Amino acid sequence: MIFKHKDIISAKQFSREDLEYLFDWAIKIEENKDNEKYTNLLKGKILAVLFFEPSTRTRLSFESAMKRLGGSVIGFSSAGVSSSKKGETLADTIRTVSNYADLLVIRHPKEGSTKLSAKFSDVPVINAGSGSGEHPTQALLDLLTIRQECKKIDGLNIGLIGDLKYGRTVHSLAYLLSNYNVNLYLISPEILKIQYRVLDFLQLKGMKIKETKRFKNTLPLLDVIYMTRIQKERFPDPEEYNRVKDIFVLGNEELKSLKENAKIMHPLPRISEIKPEVDQSPHALYMKKQLYYGLMLRKALLSIILGAIK
Ligand code: CP
Repeated sequence: MIFKHKDIISAKQFSREDLEYLFDWAIKIEENKDNEKYTNLLKGKILAVLFFEPSTRTRLSFESAMKRLGGSVIGFSSAGVSSSKKGETLADTIRTVSNYADLLVIRHPKEGSTKLSAKFSDVPVINAGSGSGEHPTQALLDLLTIRQECKKIDGLNIGLIGDLKYGRTVHSLAYLLSNYNVNLYLISPEILKIQYRVLDFLQLKGMKIKETKRFKNTLPLLDVIYMTRIQKERFPDPEEYNRVKDIFVLGNEELKSLKENAKIMHPLPRISEIKPEVDQSPHALYMKKQLYYGLMLRKALLSIILGAIK
């Protein structure tokens, strides 16, 4: 894949070579972040952030990345303040905003929304979360975090834990990991197992996968413990949510069984699945490192797509 002027819709788009190219640029930009060449890299460029669903990290880190590279940002942070509230279609919103910006970052509750948006946009589109489908840029920053903090990706035992059905970051991360030789543990209650369409893709790529409901017994095997929130807003039946909401909880007790160098990650926001007592653990990457790599990654992605670096 050549990134320049391309849409980022799915993590399935990325080859191992693409990922290494992107990560190398993320590191290079970070190493030169105070150099004037980089602080002006996106000068004159405008990013539009169109968020039809709530966000803290994704929207603000895209905005921060753009501004730190000298670019500017327009957009909205909820559907209620855009003309979609008056009944405007997504297609018309996208047609309109693509006149005002060089790149669109879109979060929308419907799966397929970014793919549809890309059809109507004159400028590239980045998927910042589409329903319970995918969230590719979160997965990119997760993989960069793993690569930098574990010093490798191949050979790791990686556990994706919690809501594997509705959790869009999990789907995207699993797709990215299918480029590597990892052992993937999919740990979820029965009703939140990963969807067949995702599993089929991973199996076709020849991934080594183990699906299990055994959370505590699997923890000691893992190099990366990727916890996720149970996605309350996606459940058709609130009773079903109540039955699983606290099914897997990581606290100090569970930390005792971890490998010495195990890393705990979470795309955030977290609710009750990681107790606050874990935050200070040397295993925990979610409140600092993952956020740091997120900014790095998004700076590189914006720069490559906008053609500022070759
Ligand atoms: N990880 C993530 O997508 O966080 P936000 O919902 O805060 O953007």
